[in-house]
Amino acid sequence: MKQLCLKNDIHVSPIALGCMRMAALTVPEAEKVILTACEQGITFFDHADIYGGGKSEEIFGEVLRAHPGLREKIMLQSKCGICNGYYDASAEHILQAAEGILSRLGVEYLDTLLLHRPDALMEPEEVAEAFEKLHRSGKVRGFGVSNVNPAQLALLDREMPGRILINQLQFGLAHTGMVDAGINVNIHSDHAENRDGLVLDYCRLHGITIQAWSPFQYGMFEGVFLKSEKYAALNAELADTGKKYGITDSAAAIAWILRHPAGIQAVIGSMNPGRIAEIAKAQEIRLTRQEWYRLYLAAGNPLP
Ligand SMILES: NC(=O)c1ccc[n+]([C@@H]2O[C@H](COP(=O)([O-])OP(=O)(O)OC[C@H]3O[C@@H](n4cnc5c(N)ncnc54)[C@H](OP(=O)(O)O)[C@@H]3O)[C@@H](O)[C@H]2O)c1
Repeated sequence: MKQLCLKNDIHVSPIALGCMRMAALTVPEAEKVILTACEQGITFFDHADIYGGGKSEEIFGEVLRAHPGLREKIMLQSKCGICNGYYDASAEHILQAAEGILSRLGVEYLDTLLLHRPDALMEPEEVAEAFEKLHRSGKVRGFGVSNVNPAQLALLDREMPGRILINQLQFGLAHTGMVDAGINVNIHSDHAENRDGLVLDYCRLHGITIQAWSPFQYGMFEGVFLKSEKYAALNAELADTGKKYGITDSAAAIAWILRHPAGIQAVIGSMNPGRIAEIAKAQEIRLTRQEWYRLYLAAGNPLP
């Protein structure tokens, strides 16, 4: 099974299972989802303290308790910093949130902890202090951020050089901003708009792994583009690509993300075991350059 390598030399599955929607499941349903993912080589699980108000982590914790030994076979990540009506990247909040996450999951350590969103009042020294304490106590092995731009990454790097392993950002065939600006350099068009400070190139330069969240959604949770009439041309192209490799349209859409040489990890959110097993096949597919561009164009993007 192919693996991605994080900056700290830890190998992870190219697809991660996001547990944002797990709060809606019963424990036996969640157990099936988690065990199916593991059987299919998806061994990295993404949480956040706010998913289901903590319920997603609690349910996951129940499954871990029922399967001694499972914890050591998987990678567990969670995120903190989004509060009710504000963001909080203070050392006090990060340390408190980490304790809550560990207790809900019922584990002794997290493989990675991310700051969920940039806090306008963030003081990088405090983030570094909290991360260092968590690392020294053995409670968190590695750190990252989410929805963060290059200047914010550089600011954090000044206080904790080389320690940010991951930046989780929305990316998928219906949300291609991270590659659009790089394709349309110096052109007067919407696609040339630099909305993220060229974060993809920055992360590649600094060995920071990008995790692509909500890879099937368009807009801000407006819906999935799969089977959507708004994306008819894309769905036709995905069906053709899927047929060629004997995979589903969803798997072809994930293979498109995994083909990018930045080594992007796709964070899928399906809670349907059958779909998860089908999508996992994307981990073994490498699209050709022409297939990658055909899908990019079919999603409605121009090439200059
Ligand atoms: N860092 C951040 O700010 C941030 C923000 C949002 C999400 N995330 C992370 O990203 C993860 C994924 O987010 P997401 O759930 O929005 O991602 P997604 O994988 O794009 O969407 C999954 C949703 O689409 C549905 N779906 C319908 N048809 C589908 C198909 N053919 N194939 C696959 N899914 C289909 C799934 O339903 P079924 O369950 O019925 O398959 C599920 O409700 C989250 O769990 C979370 O870990 C991070």
